[in-house]
Amino acid sequence: MAAADAEVARLCDALVDPGWATSDRLLDAQSIALLADECDAAWAAGLLHPAAVGRGGARAERTAIRSDHVLWLDRATAGPGALRYLDAMEALRVALNRALFLGLEALEAHFAFYPPGARYDRHLDRFTDDDTRVVSAVLYLNPAWPPDAGGQLRLFLDGGGAHDVLPEAGTLALFLADRFWHEVLPATRPRRSVTGWFRRRPLG
Ligand code: OGA
Ligand code: MN
Repeated sequence: MAAADAEVARLCDALVDPGWATSDRLLDAQSIALLADECDAAWAAGLLHPAAVGRGGARAERTAIRSDHVLWLDRATAGPGALRYLDAMEALRVALNRALFLGLEALEAHFAFYPPGARYDRHLDRFTDDDTRVVSAVLYLNPAWPPDAGGQLRLFLDGGGAHDVLPEAGTLALFLADRFWHEVLPATRPRRSVTGWFRRRPLG
């Protein structure tokens, strides 16, 4: 088995139990650097917009819960880094379906930019009226992230503990969208990521 296939197989096993995993081997360093440049260029060009929370909601309420800016990825306009990301995630989607019969049909993904101090309060990635998001996947784009800079993804685990993930370039956090509450802690420096969700067909 090739090394990349073995890593994907490990991630599939981890999603069964304990339901979450991290990896730093899904994309090579060059692809991560390309993605970071594309995110920075989009931010500089003013293409990222304040993220929405759930459905509707007042802007003041939104800012209190979540203060990142996002740009949805689209294969038609994607740069070379985003294309490599989409290809890697497609391979993971196919493997997850083969191993776990999850019936994942598509990925929705956006660049996310958290200015210093921005955060995202504790939440679940599933809207109460929409169960199409099955697996959450967050890929970080920040080289040499100092452990004391904050910006951790805090995953609340079954049984009461928590696991913190530093947003270091190349780290992927993968978890079941309906099961793991999580939050993003504020950071002292800009924090960039690509956040994706594998979706199944809407019911009904
Ligand atoms: C989200 C989210 C986590 C992160 O966008 O829903 O929880 O670490 N992101 O950026
Ligand atoms: Mn989330």
